[in-house]
Amino acid sequence: MASFVGLVLAAGHGKRMKSALPKPLHPVAGIPMIDHVVGSLVRSGASRVVVVVGHGGELIEEHLAGRAEIVWQREQLGTGHAVLAAGPAFDGYDGNILIVPADVPLLTSESLQQLVEEQSGSASDATILSMCVDDPTDYGRVVRDSKGNVAAIVEHCDATEEIRAIREVNTGVFCFDSRTLFNALPRISTDNKQGEYYLTDVIAIMISQGLSVRAVALKDASEGLGINSRVELSKAEQIMGDRKRREVMESGVTLIDPATTFIDASVEIGSDTVIMPFTIIAGNSKIGGSCNIGPYVYIRDSEVGSGCNIGPFSYLRPGTSLADRVKVGDFVEVKKSTVGEGSKIPHLSYIGDTVMGSHVNIGAGTITCNYDGETKHTTIIEDGAFVGANSNLVAPVKVGSDAYIATGSTVTSHVPAGALAIARARQENKDGWVAKRRAARLSKEEK
Ligand code: UD1
Ligand code: CA
Repeated sequence: MASFVGLVLAAGHGKRMKSALPKPLHPVAGIPMIDHVVGSLVRSGASRVVVVVGHGGELIEEHLAGRAEIVWQREQLGTGHAVLAAGPAFDGYDGNILIVPADVPLLTSESLQQLVEEQSGSASDATILSMCVDDPTDYGRVVRDSKGNVAAIVEHCDATEEIRAIREVNTGVFCFDSRTLFNALPRISTDNKQGEYYLTDVIAIMISQGLSVRAVALKDASEGLGINSRVELSKAEQIMGDRKRREVMESGVTLIDPATTFIDASVEIGSDTVIMPFTIIAGNSKIGGSCNIGPYVYIRDSEVGSGCNIGPFSYLRPGTSLADRVKVGDFVEVKKSTVGEGSKIPHLSYIGDTVMGSHVNIGAGTITCNYDGETKHTTIIEDGAFVGANSNLVAPVKVGSDAYIATGSTVTSHVPAGALAIARARQENKDGWVAKRRAARLSKEEK
C-alpha cells in the first residue's frame, strides 16, 4: 500500500458543544474523540500523524503527549487556514496527505485505507470522502457537473435551495497530493457567509487548474457522522456502543439485553461470559471468560478473572483486580483492592485498599475502614480467613490466614493466623428485668 501522512484538524472552537472542554477531548464510548481519530490513522498505516491545535490546544497537546506531532493554529480562521498552518510540517514532502477532522470519531481505519487506495490507484490529485445522507443539513454539499464529475464543495450556509437538495455531502476527510494541495491552498479566500478560509474551497480551485478531483462515498454513512453538538455526540455514542456490543457478542459473550448494556470501546471480555441487563463496563476493564455479570452492575478500570459472579447491584471501582471464581454480590463496593481466587464478598460490603487472599469469606455487612480522615490505609486479609457478618476492619490491620473474626467485631489490631478474634462487648442477660421494671412503674402510678 502507498505511503501517506495524516493531518488531524483539532483547533476549532467547537462552539455548538457549549462546553469548557475542547471538543476533541469529549469522550465517545469512554475514549476522547481525538484518540479515535488518531488511532484510526495509525492503524490505517499513516507514516506520520500531525495534529493542528488551537482552541484549548494546551490540553490537547498534553493529552496526546508524544503520540502525535503538534502544530499550532493560533487564530482559528477556518479549516483551510488550519491546513495552511500545518504546511511547514510537510515541507519537502510530496506524497499523499490524508486530512481528517477531529470530530469524526466513527471512521474506521479500513475506510481511511480505502480512500488512500482510491487516490493512489486512480492517480487523482484529490479524493474526497463523501457520504449520502437523508438529512444533509449543515454538511458541505458535493456538487457535480452534468457528466457526474465533481465540480465543487459548497457549504450549507452558502448554498442555494437547489444545492441544499443534494444529499451527497463532504465528510471533511480528504486525500490530497501534498504538493498540489499546498500550491492551490493559498488561493482560498474568506469571501463566504462565515468569513472563514474554507478547506473545501480548494476543490473548485484545483478543478479550475485542470487537476483531477474525485469523490468516493462511504459505504456505511454512519461512519461519517460529524460531532458538532451534544445531540450528535449522543448519536455517536449509540453507534459506537452498537459496534462494541456486536463485537463482544461475535467474540462469544452473551448480552441478555444489548439495549441496557454499555461497554466502553477499550474493554475486553472473555467468551461465555453472560451479561445481564443494566450493566456498565467502563474504562480499561478486562473481564475473563465464563463470568456472570449483572443485573445492575457498574465496573470501571478493573480486572475480573474467569468464572466470577458479579451482581446484582455491585460496583467495582478503579484499581480492583479479582482472581478467578470470585463472588461479589449485591450492594457490594470494591475499590482499589485485589481479591484472591475463590473468595466471596456476597452482600452489603465495602472493601477498599485491601489485599485479600484466596478462599476468604466475607460476612454480610463487613466494612474495611480505610480512611482516617487524612490518609487511606491498607487492610490485609490472608488466605482462608473467615470474617463474621457486620464486622469493621479498621485499617491498617491484618487478618492472618485461616483466622476467624466473630460477628459484629470492630477489629483494630492484627489477628494472628488461625486465631479467633472477638472484638465486641460481651453479652449480659439480666433475669427478670422486665417484670421488675413493670412493677416499679405500677407502684409509681398508684401514688
Ligand atoms: C466541515 C466542512 C464541511 C463538512 C463537515 C463534515 C469546511 C469549511 N466544512 O464543516 O464541508 O461537511 O466538516 O463534518 O471545512 N478546525 C480547525 N481550525 C479552524 C476551524 C476548524 O482546526 O479554524 C477544525 C475543527 O476543530 C474541526 C474541523 O476543523 O475538528 C471541522 O471544523 P467544523 O467547524 O466542525 O466544520 P463543519 O462546520 O462541521
Ligand atoms: Ca464538524
